[in-house]
Amino acid sequence: MAEPVTLLLDVPSGWSGHWAGPLSEYLPQARLLGQDDAAVEAGRIDYLITFRPRKGLLASLSNLKAVFCLGAGVDGILADPDFPRDLPLMRFVDRSLSRELAQYVVLHVLIFHRGQRYFDAAQAMNKWRQRPLLRRTEDTRIGILGMGEIGTMCAERLRDLDFPVTGWSRSRKAVSGVESFAGAGELAPFLARSDILICLLPLTSATQGILNAKTFALLPKGAFLINAARGGHLIEADLVEAIDRGHLAGATLDVFQHEPLPADSVLWNHPKITVTPHVAAITDPRAAARAISEGIGALERGEPAPYRVDIAQGY
Ligand code: GLV
Repeated sequence: MAEPVTLLLDVPSGWSGHWAGPLSEYLPQARLLGQDDAAVEAGRIDYLITFRPRKGLLASLSNLKAVFCLGAGVDGILADPDFPRDLPLMRFVDRSLSRELAQYVVLHVLIFHRGQRYFDAAQAMNKWRQRPLLRRTEDTRIGILGMGEIGTMCAERLRDLDFPVTGWSRSRKAVSGVESFAGAGELAPFLARSDILICLLPLTSATQGILNAKTFALLPKGAFLINAARGGHLIEADLVEAIDRGHLAGATLDVFQHEPLPADSVLWNHPKITVTPHVAAITDPRAAARAISEGIGALERGEPAPYRVDIAQGY
């Protein structure tokens, strides 16, 4: 690269230390700015690295060439009315991220399937309480909403544990041993055979609020929900109602309508809901720095960068 490119790293101040090293290593020629330099240098910034830009930031960057998202989901960037719709936006896709999310999903599928909370409660009372599995593995049908890179890896991992797995996506997918349902017309039959429903969809206008009372009514009685996508997919009150009237067995939620989840949310103390603080997959700075350097390299050579988001589609 002839001229050094200028990057702005827009992460909460406590996190910038994790990122500066890997970014300087992969992009040794680049000038790396932090949030504090943004105001003075706004017109000179070529690339923005962000997850959820703070209000007004995008509007202030007049010469931006592209934005790199620090996560897989770019909804936090597209929600900003100042995001120029023709600007290249790249989402983060990497095996390390898919693998972490798949670990989270497998963990929470097994906690539910193996009845681990029952044994935890028994241990807390010094009680030796044996109990068989409530349902055979072969009879525990798993449905994955969203079959991108992450959904596909989750499907493969769960299939390899002998669960029957289906995936639902906008277009039909071919994943060995995983049945594919596609499009709005096949959502109801997909839900009807999902004893454990896992949401890994991108958040778009088409998927906003997709986990609602109507959806839950289509799930088999006793179904369990795992939402590791976005809080905007879920109508939280509908979930609590479906669990409290006994239709759903419970849920694991990593993402929420409002984050951090407010201290007075009923979700915190619900006996059938597990809450984690949006940690299902945390972006690995080294992997992201590598992807960003490849993307910048491509753009500076006048080539398309990998994983450019289709803005109309939202992912
Ligand atoms: C995390 O939420 C991500 O989008 O990667």
